[in-house]
Amino acid sequence: MIIAVDGPAASGKGTIARALAKHFGLPHLDTGLLYRAVAARVLAEGLDPAREADVVAMCDFDEGLLASPDLRTDHVGKTASIVSAHPLVRAALLQRQRRFAQQEGGAVLDGRDIGTVIAPDADVKLFVKATPAIRARRRHEELRRHGIEVSYDRVLADIRARDDRDSRRSEAPLRQAADAAVLDTSFLSIEAAVQRAVALAEAQM
Ligand code: C5P
Repeated sequence: MIIAVDGPAASGKGTIARALAKHFGLPHLDTGLLYRAVAARVLAEGLDPAREADVVAMCDFDEGLLASPDLRTDHVGKTASIVSAHPLVRAALLQRQRRFAQQEGGAVLDGRDIGTVIAPDADVKLFVKATPAIRARRRHEELRRHGIEVSYDRVLADIRARDDRDSRRSEAPLRQAADAAVLDTSFLSIEAAVQRAVALAEAQM
């Protein structure tokens, strides 16, 4: 049983993927963390995220790094979106994700290319989306809760820039798989979105 959850930043895909994993008793991998881990190493080493060869050398990291709270910052997220556009970086992280997806008993993975590239044969595919304005509002509130003061307009501009980069790259761009069920969370509470996700998943099983 493989469940693929894709969608743009702050769409709610992470929350939904975790809830599905809990509901169906499956292990979960937030694949964005892999790209964030590479980005954090690039930043820590003072490397240029645009230099593919330098970035590729950062792809072999210890599992423990994925638990670091430092990976959650917007700066790391933005850098992750730059490093993730390099084909060799995506290739370096591919097997790790496929192994996780194909483990016995199944798994839930969330990201941008799970239903299209990592697990095209997934049993369940969801594409989670919400309007850029609503995603920016969620992200803005989350940052403020963490004591980070930044304007809403700045957050919205960042979200748009990230969407743009993630959907325009030539290698595994963010796009809805033809056989994915779409879940628009724009006007749903977290509880309602999770309930809908469980129903859509069960319908595909
Ligand atoms: O989902 P999250 O915001 O943590 O992802 C950070 C960045 O990693 C994304 O903007 C995207 O560029 C990249 N990513 C990707 N493929 C995935 C997951 C994340 O390219 N499967």
